[in-house]
Amino acid sequence: MRTRLILLGLLACVHSLVRVPLRRVAAVRGRLRAASQLEEFLREHQPDAFSRRYAQCFPAAQHYLHTGGRATERLYNYMDAQFFGQISLGKPEQNFTVVFDTGSSDLWVPSSYCVSQACAAHHKFKAFESSTYAHDGRVFGIHYGSGHLLGVMAREELKVGSVRVQNQVIGEAVYEPSFSFVLAHFDGVLGLGFPQLAEELGSPVFDSMMAQHLLDEPVFSFYLKNGDSGFGGELLFGGVDETRFVPPITWAPVTQKGYWQIRLDGVKVQGALSFCYRSNHGCQAVVDTGTSLIGGPARDIMILQQFLGATPTAGGEYLLDCARIRSLPVVSFLIGGVEFSLTGEQYVRRETLNNKEICFSGFQSTDVPSPAGAVWILGDVFLSQFYSVYDRGHSRVGLAPLAGAPQLAA
Ligand SMILES: *[C@@H]1O[C@H](CO)[C@@H](O)[C@H](O)[C@H]1NC(C)=O
Repeated sequence: MRTRLILLGLLACVHSLVRVPLRRVAAVRGRLRAASQLEEFLREHQPDAFSRRYAQCFPAAQHYLHTGGRATERLYNYMDAQFFGQISLGKPEQNFTVVFDTGSSDLWVPSSYCVSQACAAHHKFKAFESSTYAHDGRVFGIHYGSGHLLGVMAREELKVGSVRVQNQVIGEAVYEPSFSFVLAHFDGVLGLGFPQLAEELGSPVFDSMMAQHLLDEPVFSFYLKNGDSGFGGELLFGGVDETRFVPPITWAPVTQKGYWQIRLDGVKVQGALSFCYRSNHGCQAVVDTGTSLIGGPARDIMILQQFLGATPTAGGEYLLDCARIRSLPVVSFLIGGVEFSLTGEQYVRRETLNNKEICFSGFQSTDVPSPAGAVWILGDVFLSQFYSVYDRGHSRVGLAPLAGAPQLAA
């Protein structure tokens, strides 16, 4: 009897820290480039080509789509998404590969009723096979840079890592317009942003975990590993993994709940304050695992690319001479009184094309209008160099150097 109680106690502990391994795979963009299809793709899939072409076909849907404002400024660029993990839905379990995205707050997967080309290439959720499925009846639309995603809402049992979330609101996508979804290695998205950002009404996954007392602490953390395809790191629900980073953690309060948005005090290039320092307010940064590069205001990014000696391509990317990477300036982000610095080796993306290595700048312009000032987006290029902690209890973001990495300047 006693042994059994102790065992139950141990099991409860196991559940309070939930590990989700992440896989790293080549981004769609690189694969299109390797197949010499990138330029054609970019021509054919201008951000609003979809709306222009298909808007009249879905008059009823327009009603559900947010127009203007936040929804049309989605931060992600799925073509570059690289870090994925597994979840399962329903009983018996149906598995899906998702992007764990701190830049959105919805969970959706393709529905078995979806006939889009993108859905055909992915795992589709079969509601009729699940005994835990509950119909919701509401319709949702999510506007992405590359088009609209339409679907119906439901409630289902979600399993992520070792934890089971009951009665989770999910979106079943019945229409996925974007061609980038066809090639994507993931089936859907699991948003980890604040509920204020959700387009599906109801509780986002992490809010459900908190409400159902599935975790010790209302905290999750990301360890993203830079390197070759394969093991891509770990998402940890319920706390931090002290073996992954060097303390102390630098905490920055969330300035606006929605995205994981914090204050950025300045951006230095080779030690000289260069951007985002003029006003007393500094500017804002969004910590976003669903964006691959580091984004910033177009004007600043253009100057930064010039500092780096990067040259623009027709596809809007910036090329760098691979031989010069070692001599590129260090770019530092000032957050909470600490400099988070990236060397050229760390912010350049390398791709192999026809056995030749090509190098791209890890910075891109993303103009996100915000009442709080200019917004920078700290995507995976940044997050794969620092351990990141998302604390809903204190509404703050924590950053710390990875274990084994050089120390930060204070
Ligand atoms: C789902 O994934 C789990 C863990 O990887 C695996 O054990 C299980 O067989 C998978 N289920 C199906 C239906 O593929």
